[in-house]
Amino acid sequence: MPDIRLSVNGEAIEESAEARLTLADLLRERLHLTATHLGCEQGVCGACTVLVDGVPVRSCIRFAAACDGQAVQSLEGLEHDPVMEALRAAFTRHHALQCGYCTPGMLIMARDVVLRLPDADPARIRLEMSGNLCRCTGYLGIIEAIHAVILARRG
Ligand code: FES
Ligand code: FES
Repeated sequence: MPDIRLSVNGEAIEESAEARLTLADLLRERLHLTATHLGCEQGVCGACTVLVDGVPVRSCIRFAAACDGQAVQSLEGLEHDPVMEALRAAFTRHHALQCGYCTPGMLIMARDVVLRLPDADPARIRLEMSGNLCRCTGYLGIIEAIHAVILARRG
């Protein structure tokens, strides 16, 4: 008998989930959705950010069992999302990534900022993104890219 039933990127998933299995390990190890990266594994860096019922969540400190009945979206599930497409292009234009390790979490969080705060200025974007760390210190390009998408959506 599966322990948990959830939807991942729109697909119904049934899995056995020991109590300590994290959502990040469920995605990466069981479902091979490796766009979700693991950095600190203690809820600090934001590299593992995914959406759970539409809300950004750190999957390294969310137990899989706690996601029973919920809808999870990883970066793979947002491939054709129009905001994500705009963000990917803007990240490229603004050189918003170097090694790319932080980028999946940055993109998930950036999409949330774009949709939730259509009037955000660079200072607000910086505040909203402050929970996502980049080891390559590419913050300026990241903020510029997100701001560019917000401005373009404002028309
Ligand atoms: Fe989850 Fe760093 S790996 S917050
Ligand atoms: Fe290397 Fe952010 S681009 S950690």
